[in-house]
Amino acid sequence: MRATATAGSNIAIVKYWGARDLALNLPANGSISLTLDAARTTTTVDFAPAYEADALVLNGREVGGTALARVSAHLDRLRALAGVNLRARVETANTFPEGSGIASSASGFAALTVAAAAALGLRLSERELSRLARLGSGSACRSIIGGWAEWLAGTCDEDSYAVQVAPPEHWNVRDLVAVISAEPKAVPSAKGHERAASSPLFEARLRQVEEALPAVRRAILERDFHALGVLAEADALSMHAIMLTSAPPLLYWLPATVELIRQVWQWRLEGLPCYFTIDAGPNVHVLTLPQAVAHVAERLRALPFVRQVIPCGPGPAPRVIPSGA
Ligand code: PMV
Repeated sequence: MRATATAGSNIAIVKYWGARDLALNLPANGSISLTLDAARTTTTVDFAPAYEADALVLNGREVGGTALARVSAHLDRLRALAGVNLRARVETANTFPEGSGIASSASGFAALTVAAAAALGLRLSERELSRLARLGSGSACRSIIGGWAEWLAGTCDEDSYAVQVAPPEHWNVRDLVAVISAEPKAVPSAKGHERAASSPLFEARLRQVEEALPAVRRAILERDFHALGVLAEADALSMHAIMLTSAPPLLYWLPATVELIRQVWQWRLEGLPCYFTIDAGPNVHVLTLPQAVAHVAERLRALPFVRQVIPCGPGPAPRVIPSGA
């Protein structure tokens, strides 16, 4: 019982930071993201009676510890649904470097969910796949959806999942990921979600997000890049304000992160369509439009502190790759 699936990571315009239930990954707020084409995870899951325990091979190297435990716990959810008790070997590879500021957990748990469901012969709806992926890693529920996705916060396990706002071909927004540091993050996002509500600014952020969600939806549907960019920057700064004011505080930025924010603002003054967003790390995602990609990428590559630029665009929903393909 074996299947392979591929899934894109995603970059959130309105971000998930803070959870109502950490065990179920129920978020404090809804979020909206773009699933990415060039930043993908491809995963093969093979269930067989010969395996005595689950095994995980990441980019060609067998790994154990927390990573294997999370994968195993996720496979348990799918095994329970299928009524199967076989162990599995999971082989997974990313098209982007680890620690590049691209969420491997989002594409990773989306690909794992789709591959394991296919291997077990489970016929699940998109909603069910999204709900399951969420249990693996919150933001993975949005990677089940192609293009622009909204995670409906919901109230419980059943109604917290992502839906499509617009398909990938609706709007070709580009995300140039500027890698400043490839170090793995010191504090995992789970710890950040746990302490977000300790920030005195958290209630204000939730009110801001309530207003931002319909505005971002509208900006996407109307292909209003200026509106989208302003909202993306405001949300990223708001999330990092929560991090800075949590107890204990979290500071993911490096001096080069701040320098790049200033550069993006300067380039915009000069007429380039570009806006930034930043996840739980120091790297900067620069959102731009196709006609400006070459210019923006050139400027990014000219900065001494930018180690790598990874160009991405809107990506499709995960798909199962036929064996032998
Ligand atoms: O899915 P998690 O628990 O890794 O959290 C994702 C957190 C951010 O990437 C910072 C924001 C988001 O919504 O993707």
